[in-house]
Amino acid sequence: MKNKLRQISWDEFSSMDAMTKAPYMTENGRSFHVLTAQQFTRPMLEELCSLATDVRRIAKTREGSAFLQKQLFEKRAMLYFAQPSTRTYLSFYSACQIIGMQTMNVRDSSTSSEMKGESPEDSVRTFSSYADLIIMRHPAGGFAERIAWMLSNISRPVPVVNAGSGKDQHPTQALLDIYTLARSFEHTDGIDGKKIAFVGDLKRGRTVRSLAWLLTQYQGVKAYFVAPRELQIGEDILGQLDAAGMPYEISYDFEKVIPEVDAIYMTRIQDEWDVNNESSRVNTAAYHFTREHLNILGEHAVIMHPLPRRLEIDPAVDSDPRAVYWRQVRNGMWIRAALMLTIFKHDGAIIDYSREHQL
Ligand code: CP
Repeated sequence: MKNKLRQISWDEFSSMDAMTKAPYMTENGRSFHVLTAQQFTRPMLEELCSLATDVRRIAKTREGSAFLQKQLFEKRAMLYFAQPSTRTYLSFYSACQIIGMQTMNVRDSSTSSEMKGESPEDSVRTFSSYADLIIMRHPAGGFAERIAWMLSNISRPVPVVNAGSGKDQHPTQALLDIYTLARSFEHTDGIDGKKIAFVGDLKRGRTVRSLAWLLTQYQGVKAYFVAPRELQIGEDILGQLDAAGMPYEISYDFEKVIPEVDAIYMTRIQDEWDVNNESSRVNTAAYHFTREHLNILGEHAVIMHPLPRRLEIDPAVDSDPRAVYWRQVRNGMWIRAALMLTIFKHDGAIIDYSREHQL
């Protein structure tokens, strides 16, 4: 079956909810575009995590690195980042290098012909003339979906990976978060049955929105949403969790939640979305993780953060083995390499190499 986005109008597609849209992002049963967390099922997540581990192990040797670099040497990726980024940009860039993909970039629209009045749609259409993959971050929610629809309906369809869109989705961050959780809990029965607290600006944090959905794919997971009232999680996400049957608690008492959970996912205040500097009037101090909190955190629990951070985790916490946010950064490179290999159907070659070399 061909790319289904060719069979539907933009008006019809854009009016669907995230679950209904999900099958339109696939081609022959695998992700073609990567736009939302809702397009990933548990088998897909497990395959991606396993592939990321294969890539990570293969890359340890010189021979393995050379094998990986042969995979996608004929492909070019366009990194279009119309919003600031350190980790997402660099991990995609590094992942492209690992699997041999050439890269181009526009990291600031003010350096492109958008400054001469070209529409963002025409800009990306131009990028697609040179590239085999568009990796894009954009402040407008839903813009990556619009581009994916547009680039599905040209003579040479080009896949689009959403590297962060507006306040709504950051699916590849959620993938690296799942990979980090899976690695953190590999000796304690995996992600199933775990209690996971989300803390901070849950109203505007796109990483939380994407990860909360992916956790519905695991059995018996319970979420805790811990934030000041002004920054609590949106009803739309809670509705999706209700529909998926995932239990959750809304909490305003961080210190009560800390000892109860297996993972704490901290987030910063997303004040770039403020209209009238409203975040500055919210007292968030009670939602910071301090070094004293390490004493009440479970022995096998982990502290995560998509980063960048501000004051919400004391740097003194960094050296505790339960702080895994720097591991998340590196895991992003491996899972993004795995994702791109899957899009271009090179996952089988990686699995074969891994088996042959008993990695
Ligand atoms: N986590 C994340 O998206 O970081 P960057 O904004 O630095 O890419």
